[in-house]
Amino acid sequence: MQTVRIARRGAVAIVTIDNPPVNALGAALRGDLLGAIAEAGADAAVEAIVIAAAGRAFIAGADISEFGKPPVRPVLPEVLEAIEGCARPVVAAIHGVALGGGLEVALACHARVATPAARLGLPEIKLGIIPGAGGTQRLPRLIGAADAFPLMLSGEPISADRAAALGLVDQVAAGDVVDAAVALAHSLAATGRWTRTGERADRLTAQDRDAFEALAADATRKSGDMPNAMALVEAVRGVFTLSFAEGLAAERALFLNLVADERSKALRHVFFAEREAAKIPGIAAGTAERPIATAAVIGAGTMGGGIAMCFANAGIPVTLIEQQQAQIDNGINRVAAIYEMSVTRGSLTPENRDRRIALITGAVGLAAAGRADIVIEAAFEEMGVKQEIFSELDRVAKQGAILASNTSYLDIPTIAAATKRPQDVLGMHFFSPANVMKLLEIVRPAGVADDVVATAVSLARKLGKVPVVVGNGFGFVGNRMLEQRTKAAERLLIAGALPHEVDAALTGFGFKMGPFAMSDLAGNDIGWRTRKSRGKTAAVADAICEAGWFGQKTGRGYYIYPGGARAGERDPEVEALIACISKEHGVTRRRFTEAEILARLLDPMVNEGARILEEGVATRPGDIDTIWLNGYNWPAWRGGPMHWADTVGLDVIVKRLEAQAAESGDAALEPAPLLRRLASEGKTFSELKAKAA
Ligand code: 3HC
Repeated sequence: MQTVRIARRGAVAIVTIDNPPVNALGAALRGDLLGAIAEAGADAAVEAIVIAAAGRAFIAGADISEFGKPPVRPVLPEVLEAIEGCARPVVAAIHGVALGGGLEVALACHARVATPAARLGLPEIKLGIIPGAGGTQRLPRLIGAADAFPLMLSGEPISADRAAALGLVDQVAAGDVVDAAVALAHSLAATGRWTRTGERADRLTAQDRDAFEALAADATRKSGDMPNAMALVEAVRGVFTLSFAEGLAAERALFLNLVADERSKALRHVFFAEREAAKIPGIAAGTAERPIATAAVIGAGTMGGGIAMCFANAGIPVTLIEQQQAQIDNGINRVAAIYEMSVTRGSLTPENRDRRIALITGAVGLAAAGRADIVIEAAFEEMGVKQEIFSELDRVAKQGAILASNTSYLDIPTIAAATKRPQDVLGMHFFSPANVMKLLEIVRPAGVADDVVATAVSLARKLGKVPVVVGNGFGFVGNRMLEQRTKAAERLLIAGALPHEVDAALTGFGFKMGPFAMSDLAGNDIGWRTRKSRGKTAAVADAICEAGWFGQKTGRGYYIYPGGARAGERDPEVEALIACISKEHGVTRRRFTEAEILARLLDPMVNEGARILEEGVATRPGDIDTIWLNGYNWPAWRGGPMHWADTVGLDVIVKRLEAQAAESGDAALEPAPLLRRLASEGKTFSELKAKAA
């Protein structure tokens, strides 16, 4: 056996799973575990069995990389049937996480002991599926359907204490968890008082059923369009209407159906893409990092305040630096108000609020950055301003401090050139609101030291962010692609679409907001100012701003917001203005279907993504997907723009781009060479990833 070992402690056999890094239940482990249970169960000298695990987790679940491939026996339900059916009591000794199939292993055992720090959950819903190895049948039998259903619907893990309160674990071990499990196993064997979860029905009362049905009705109202949420309702309902064996079979059928669904494929792609994105090409895992005990953020505006919150939330003291005390006071008050909202909502305790606020101190003048291990500049987006700050930082920052700019567009080497330590300078591009959005683009200019990049990536994870290392270049990855979508949206207006049609196409696709509603929310003047500074124009967007229609804050933008309403209404004046601009451009307006609008918005983004890959600004297509999911609210179940392009077919996208380029005369819409090559070879972006890895 490669992944499991058996040891004896008296009459108890300890089966230890050892399948690094996280004991995922791949085919080899399933086979070994089944073998171990059979061997221990057949040993007359063994009275009870403990299933424990080596490493940092009990079991992280089924091996997600096996999904969608032909099943290899024994499948997990077979292994669990053997555990549950064992003639000796089997006790799970849980440490770290017991997730998905990992928790299902524990549920098939006859009792469970967990360490105080253990986390237990069934996160399958987040992968577009439902538990597929008895979780939907055993958990309700153990803790009642009304408690089991929300746990599976949210997918969020719970603490050992909460699990004990629910009856999911029998003991929280103060000392060694295996010792405690062995002791429990002994006593179960001695008393003979142990049950098989599948045989229990005591929690499935009429009252429990009513409570479950109320929750199911609520879930149907809110998530009726999520096939896995509805499958979960159906599977759990089976505990009241079907025998245990029938319930297991029904669950498995629903599970296998969902595994084959495109949405689950996309979510699995996202899982691996996010993890791969954390691997930095050319930098070995385990590269020594610089210690980060204190931080400074320059600029106490919305962005700077949000970044300071990220540090405080992670327990790292941070100094918020401005030129005047009044700006600091404003910044800190804004931060305090955001924390207060979390307290009111119940997501933050007053003690934690106080602890976090105490970690943020304000200071006037850059000299205060002298003590920080990392300085993040979030000042005005203008090269002159940035250079001045970095040249001063060069004077005051301690040796070895990491100097990062939060610029969204500007050239990092030019900023670094203002210092005599370009090896310590990189970009750390947060997304607004910085305390909420998960993405952190880490911009790696040519001259930066490897340990600086490695430290930034690991710091990002400590801050709860999803880091993606990108190359230097205007707008890096996310904003560079966003610019293509913005241009496409403007082109659509001139060609004949209206703002609400463009927005509806994107919300129909799964975005929370379309580009025009978003621009109205953020302020149309922001883009106007940027265009002016770059000598660019956009006929409709500029005209809207020239009319003073900056969006929600002025009550008018692409939409009208009567009485300060948050949801905009169609504005006949805006629509007339757009028609007029079409005429000026000599365009005969025509109608576009939702599918046409989507293609015109998204294909140019994919094209730019292909260029970004060609230039090496992004390492892998999955990095681009990770950026769009975590920074721009791309719907996760669509997998990101490059994954989406693969599902559409790259040849289809090439043809559509060619047609758009011909119609508009815009050479930028010509398919990128990489896109053309992959399409002509009948390949996908994901195959490109496989080759690069
Ligand atoms: N299958 C395959 N690989 C997995 C995995 C899984 N279930 N869980 C983690 N891994 C891999 C990761 O891809 C990563 O590989 P890499 O080093 O090559 O990139 C490695 O294990 C370490 O993972 P993380 O970087 O995520 O490590 P962390 O310590 O940050 O987190 C974790 C550990 C909390 C276990 C996290 O990995 C996680 O949430 N895993 C997924 C849990 C999950 O969704 N389980 C349910 C699976 S579906 C299921 O069980 C179906 C069943 O009902 C039949």
